[in-house]
Amino acid sequence: MPDPMHFDRHADLYDHARPPYPDPLWDRLTSLGLLTEGKRALDVGAGTGQATHALVSAGMDVTAIEPGAALAARLRERLPSVRVLRTSAEDADLPPAAFDLVTIATAVHWFDLDVVLPKLHAALAPGGRLAVWRNAYGDDSVPPTPFRRRMQEIVARRNAPPRPVPGESDTTQWARLLEAGGLFEVAKMDEFRWTIDLDEDAVRALFTTFSDWTPEEADEAAHAARDLGGTVTEHYLTPLIVLDRVA
Ligand SMILES: C[S@@+](CC[C@H](N)C(=O)[O-])C[C@H]1O[C@@H](n2cnc3c(N)ncnc32)[C@H](O)[C@@H]1O
Repeated sequence: MPDPMHFDRHADLYDHARPPYPDPLWDRLTSLGLLTEGKRALDVGAGTGQATHALVSAGMDVTAIEPGAALAARLRERLPSVRVLRTSAEDADLPPAAFDLVTIATAVHWFDLDVVLPKLHAALAPGGRLAVWRNAYGDDSVPPTPFRRRMQEIVARRNAPPRPVPGESDTTQWARLLEAGGLFEVAKMDEFRWTIDLDEDAVRALFTTFSDWTPEEADEAAHAARDLGGTVTEHYLTPLIVLDRVA
């Protein structure tokens, strides 16, 4: 059963093994006017700051929610100007109408949206926006590479029940869920496709950070990369959903 505290147990690894978000994502957020100097942003499920850092670089006044102790400590160390709330999104005590932007990066699937969306709606100022994105590790539109086929074999051996949330690249379904309570309305959806080359060690490190992969499976993934020449090219997808706060 995936455990949201998995990331906290691997905080050091998480910090360097997860690939960054692609530049076109930041360009799009900037062109939509979301990354604006002086505006107030709340990053929810911030980890060690993979998304938070861009909000800080844009000159925003940033608050972050991160329940993991080790992750929150690294976040504070990396971005001292950020107000870090060490709590879950569900338990966070947020001031009303205090933010212009809420960001959720590769974290929305962990939240109880029935609790969290009303909270974020109340915390956003009128005219505020919610931006939700993630790195989906795999791109279904690309024919499976030999490495991907090996990964599919590993996953197919598991008996784990599917998680009761939409797939990581099922953007339409996620958009429906985020609009469901009538508090937010989709303003813009986008997808960014990109590739990254990973060597055996990078594969082991990255797959170890995945909450549904065992250490043995991460090792197997690394061995697959070694068998396939030592470096593999992975095709990834970053879906983005931007929502308006409904008045
Ligand atoms: C996959 S990581 C993403 C971290 C970072 N936002 C990024 O872009 O890489 C998921 C994060 O969500 C956090 N998380 C899990 N459950 C949460 C909850 N209920 N409320 C807030 N954060 C949560 C985890 O501690 C972890 O930092």
